[in-house]
Amino acid sequence: MSGTAFDFQDVTYAYRSQRALDGVSFSVQLGERVALLGANGSGKSTLLRMMDALCFAGGGTATALGAPLSEKAFEDEVANFAFRRRVGLVFQNPDVQLFNPTVLDELAFGPLQLGWATQRVKDAIEATLHRFGIAHLKDRPPHRLSGGEKKRVAIASVIITEPDVLLLDEPTAALDPKSRADLVAFLAHGLGDGRTVIAATHDLDIIDDISDRAIVLSEGKVAADAPTLDILHDIDLLRRTHLVFEHHHRHGDGHEHDHPHGVHGHIHQGPEG
Ligand SMILES: Nc1ncnc2c1ncn2[C@@H]1O[C@H](COP(=O)(O)OP(=O)(O)OP(=O)(O)O)[C@@H](O)[C@H]1O
Ligand SMILES: [Mg+2]
Repeated sequence: MSGTAFDFQDVTYAYRSQRALDGVSFSVQLGERVALLGANGSGKSTLLRMMDALCFAGGGTATALGAPLSEKAFEDEVANFAFRRRVGLVFQNPDVQLFNPTVLDELAFGPLQLGWATQRVKDAIEATLHRFGIAHLKDRPPHRLSGGEKKRVAIASVIITEPDVLLLDEPTAALDPKSRADLVAFLAHGLGDGRTVIAATHDLDIIDDISDRAIVLSEGKVAADAPTLDILHDIDLLRRTHLVFEHHHRHGDGHEHDHPHGVHGHIHQGPEG
């Protein structure tokens, strides 16, 4: 699949007087895998919601799949439906996303909206329950699950319809180590070719696996846009944008030193790092 998934030019957005995006420009081609990085409040969730046409640019221009991302364009039901069948967003907070009485209903909702045949819906639910390790939760009300269980159900309920463009807001937040590893493996190898994936995360350990390119936001602006490995090696950038912090530690022999630290471990700067 070729073509442009998203094109944003000088996009601004504000919640009343609170500026969230401030002159954001980038484009993403279909089939690209992009990590969206940035400190708390840098604008990641706002940008993902805009890519999912849940809010619209206050200034500048934004397009998705070649069509304008504007309130007016989305008033058209046919255009809205065509967009929704191709683009899916997993929210940062699963409580916002989950609303069905049971996990089973939650999974069935997307496929039924798309008008899939009954057997296809059943098969997809079966496969998805197993893929995300949530078969034992199928009759439970989603709002009474644990944080990580909710997150897995939310991810499963979007991935079940296999959207061409998958938007993920902090997909590994709240997941236990095994669930996190399974999700990363799935995003790295299980999605099939040609799918566009854009994932906001603070989890620098996973971005080499799930993305080829990283966009770093800082105070609503694009601070960097480069191949993921280049971003991971730019320690100054990561420090400036609060993605790593200076970690001071003392060894058993009394020797002390400082080095950059991410969420889960050391950032390696090279053979001497
Ligand atoms: N509903 C809202 N009302 C007012 N301001 C908001 C709202 N949601 C977000 N903001 C503000 O918009 C800016 C961007 O927020 P956003 O949620 O996009 O950041 P983020 O990068 O996703 O942060 P985090 O890493 O904490 O999820 C912040 O200044 C935030 O305080
Ligand atoms: Mg966010």
